[in-house]
Amino acid sequence: MKLWLDTGSLDEIREINRWGVLSGITTNPTLIGKEKMPFEQHLKEIAAEVDGPVNGEVTAEDRDGMVEEGLKLAQIAPNIVVKCPVTPDGYAAVRELGRQGIKTNMTLCFSPAQAILAAEAGATYISPFLGRVDDIANDGMALCAEIVEIYRTQGYSTFVLAASLRHPMHVVECAKIGADVATMPYEVFKRLVNHPLTDIGLKRFQDDWKAYQNALKG
Ligand code: E4P
Repeated sequence: MKLWLDTGSLDEIREINRWGVLSGITTNPTLIGKEKMPFEQHLKEIAAEVDGPVNGEVTAEDRDGMVEEGLKLAQIAPNIVVKCPVTPDGYAAVRELGRQGIKTNMTLCFSPAQAILAAEAGATYISPFLGRVDDIANDGMALCAEIVEIYRTQGYSTFVLAASLRHPMHVVECAKIGADVATMPYEVFKRLVNHPLTDIGLKRFQDDWKAYQNALKG
């Protein structure tokens, strides 16, 4: 399972990228809006930072408008993926963008039926929003698992991109059920790395090493 960062922040991207485990970026209008930079210029800078797919979302609501925006976004860099919502116009736009060789991610997916439509439209990725399903007292992980199962059964090539992840166990569970990608906020990425026993163990090794060096000196 590939690990992506869900952010518009270049600082966050640079920090996590240093770990050598970052494979891609998702953004959305909310995240981009926080950065207060011109969208296309900003996306270009993000795309230059990351060796992997970088998602930019369209804001038009009609098929032609989405295709127009998508084509523009795809010009920004070769690693741009165009995000479209799972609406009738979104499916039509994804079909057309795919015909033109552009990679797409269908966003705001909350049902297996929407995921089937995305695969049939030829989307490169489908993004079930797990956390937002959990927020309304439903089971986001079950939704993701159902989509993974359907895609495997049907032999769809659309990748399952688990989105709206809120904590490390979301990430672990997504790996267990066979999601292809997990995209998460910076805070979740940071929490993945932490373990108190690692910190305690590291300190003990350092202390023991220093004691050993001092003993050698006599
Ligand atoms: C994914 O592409 C979305 O940008 C994101 O995961 C939404 O997450 P949220 O529900 O935490 O806003």
